[in-house]
Amino acid sequence: QKVILIGAPVDTGQKRAGCLMGPAAYRVAGLAEAISGLGHQVIDRGDVAPVAHEPMPHPNPAVHHLAETVGWTEALSQAGQAAAAEGFPIFLGGDHSLSLGSVAGVAAHAESVGRPLFLLWLDAHTDFHTLQSTQSGNLHGTPVAYIAGRPGFDAFPPFPAPVAHHRICMLGIRSVDDAEEAALIPAEIEIADMRVLDERGIGAPLREFLAKVRAENGLLHVSLDVDFLDPSIAPAVGTTVPGGTTFREAHLVMELLHESGLVSSLDLVELNPFLDERGRTAELMVDLVASLMGRKVFDRPTRMH
Ligand code: ARG
Ligand code: MN
Ligand code: MN
Ligand code: MN
Repeated sequence: QKVILIGAPVDTGQKRAGCLMGPAAYRVAGLAEAISGLGHQVIDRGDVAPVAHEPMPHPNPAVHHLAETVGWTEALSQAGQAAAAEGFPIFLGGDHSLSLGSVAGVAAHAESVGRPLFLLWLDAHTDFHTLQSTQSGNLHGTPVAYIAGRPGFDAFPPFPAPVAHHRICMLGIRSVDDAEEAALIPAEIEIADMRVLDERGIGAPLREFLAKVRAENGLLHVSLDVDFLDPSIAPAVGTTVPGGTTFREAHLVMELLHESGLVSSLDLVELNPFLDERGRTAELMVDLVASLMGRKVFDRPTRMH
């Protein structure tokens, strides 16, 4: 694979400064070396800069940094579309508002090659707010709504080919705001929240989703929020929620994704290195990417499934 690293030091989608150091932390933790060590070609494109805009006031007074977020969305969408045409983009965040742009870019690419885009959202949160419904005003809580084509994103470029609900799957969910829940109840989005994962394990719902991607010959974008992981193993995130996935659950997801051969792009989001403990969260994220790119516990073909 030709893997293209795109630094996205976005820090305006929430209020706790530090995610802008994420791309640097991944580089220090050896992300490129881990991927190239698995036999892939790695190109680091450096960090993207946002398009500049005048401030954009919004009728919801909680919304903050709208102009900056629109500027990031434009720049990352352009970088993402170009990278997706050339190889396998990995977006190094940066907070989760970067996915407004990264997924717009890969969606534009998917449309240009005539294949449907699927989205796997690995997160404690559903990030399904519109600009009207968010109470925190933190735009990192909105990307899935934009990607799914919900209204209220007039300040943003129109999303290219919104992703159909049945092509979206969320794993690890354990914090949903009331307005998000109201919008998600009738939606056909597959949500394997932590209760479902407790009952069924994490492999079963993921395999079901991967079968759908394969059946439609889709492209698959994976968005990995650090808070998908339990805070005891991944403390470097501003929005910790107890009861997250374990080390092995997270690696199993990555191993199944690798074996599927279906993943075409990846976001690594919400790492706040200022909150880390001697780099352990950054290192865990690098190890998870290595599993996704083919590192195995035991290098012999797996005979289960
Ligand atoms: N739902 C909450 C909000 O809108 C939390 C969102 C957290 N999102 C994230 N990407 N960590 O403020
Ligand atoms: Mn998120
Ligand atoms: Mn989250
Ligand atoms: Mn639907």
